[in-house]
Amino acid sequence: MPPRTGVAFLLNSNQTKTLMNILVLGSGGREHALSWKISQSDKVDNLYIAPGNAGTSNVGTNVPIAAEDFPALKTFVLENKVSMVVVGPEAPLVAGIADFFAQDEALKSVSVIGPSQKGATLEGSKEFAKDFMARHKIPTARYMSVTSDNLDEGIHFLSGLKAPYVLKADGLAAGKGVLIIDDLEAAQDELKAMLDGKFGAASAKVVIEEHLSGIELSVFVMVDGKGGYKVLPTAKDYKRIGEGDTGLNTGGMGAVSPVPFADETFMKKVEERIIKPTVKGLVEDELDYCGFVFIGLMNCEGDNPYVIEYNVRMGDPETEAVMLRIKSDFVDLLEGIAKGDISSAPLVFDERAAVTVMLVSGGYPEAYEKGKVMRGMDEVHDSILFHAGTTAQDAQVLTAGGRVIAVSSYGKDKDEALALSFKNAKKIDFEGVYYRSDIGFDL
Ligand code: AMP
Ligand code: GLY
Repeated sequence: MPPRTGVAFLLNSNQTKTLMNILVLGSGGREHALSWKISQSDKVDNLYIAPGNAGTSNVGTNVPIAAEDFPALKTFVLENKVSMVVVGPEAPLVAGIADFFAQDEALKSVSVIGPSQKGATLEGSKEFAKDFMARHKIPTARYMSVTSDNLDEGIHFLSGLKAPYVLKADGLAAGKGVLIIDDLEAAQDELKAMLDGKFGAASAKVVIEEHLSGIELSVFVMVDGKGGYKVLPTAKDYKRIGEGDTGLNTGGMGAVSPVPFADETFMKKVEERIIKPTVKGLVEDELDYCGFVFIGLMNCEGDNPYVIEYNVRMGDPETEAVMLRIKSDFVDLLEGIAKGDISSAPLVFDERAAVTVMLVSGGYPEAYEKGKVMRGMDEVHDSILFHAGTTAQDAQVLTAGGRVIAVSSYGKDKDEALALSFKNAKKIDFEGVYYRSDIGFDL
């Protein structure tokens, strides 16, 4: 490991500690929550967020550079002696930011928390992820990968499955590329439409899956690329816009941590059957993977965990609950990833429950208006606010996205935490504000 740039200060007569400059990439609630947690570490000198939002500027310095603008990030990192870059969203990873840093003479000593482009294919291609699971014997739904070249086989495979039918665009499709269809003929028609470009290039290949039923949860693992890992607190997110999990899919309307059914026995199964072979597979396949693995799991009948998907980043809004449940210094864990020895970094959970409730713009996830003046945030004292889509203008905070602000709270259990979040959600006002008041209803 090359020496880091940074400021050294004296701890006591024979111990020095190096302070780091850290850059977080992204602009959502996840990045605000990561930055909030990182800013609590006494190892940080300067914390920068590119591009950030109105909330991240309360815990660090916003930098007006897009997370995918690698040349501009390079200049900033070098000029500001940044020694660690924490990548929030998947897009820069899929675009190869870790490789860009590793291959650049001036940047290669900077730690990037996030996988190589090859590693990021676990999220960037459903087929790649399914083949990875098959190769490493990780429980997942039966599947077949189809292009226009083997459409007939795809149609045949569909007719051998039971309804409902699951069709997934292979590539990234902004969370919209998964269709679950009850009728066989309709599914066969949709398969053709997808291959014909329904989701653009993302659906030139389609993965057909057997449908699984059960309850979903999110498991987050920090991996150091050498086989070491730490499992973060579990969470469950609520993806649909409407109460009772109805209506359109969103980026996520709220989250609860821990997930009650993910008890010690269940998590032992997850660790043995899924986490260990996944971490081992990342190393065996030389995916050059140092960062977060987000495992979307389905708990099928009889307490059997199956992998629904991998993401190569933390979840949003799960991060806005999970960060509250980590007592340890998060920068120690990030350094463990960077140095390839995460096993030696302490990870202590806060035993309280943590939840988050997302306030969204009216109309979201369909068309919505931005630029609405936000009020009432100063009146919230016993919850933590993570900005998701906001921007500062003069002395005001304006809405700037569909998901606007997350209200996160602690409680002795999820109900106590949720009561606090709902009480405080009511204090925040902007035109068209909406949130789900049933987060956690199914647990
Ligand atoms: P994905 O993008 O792969 O996570 O899929 C989006 C959502 O579709 C998941 O969160 C599940 O709710 C659902 N889903 C995906 N695959 C399956 C499956 N094989 N069986 C049942 N539901 C699924
Ligand atoms: N909460 C789901 C996701 O981040 O994809």
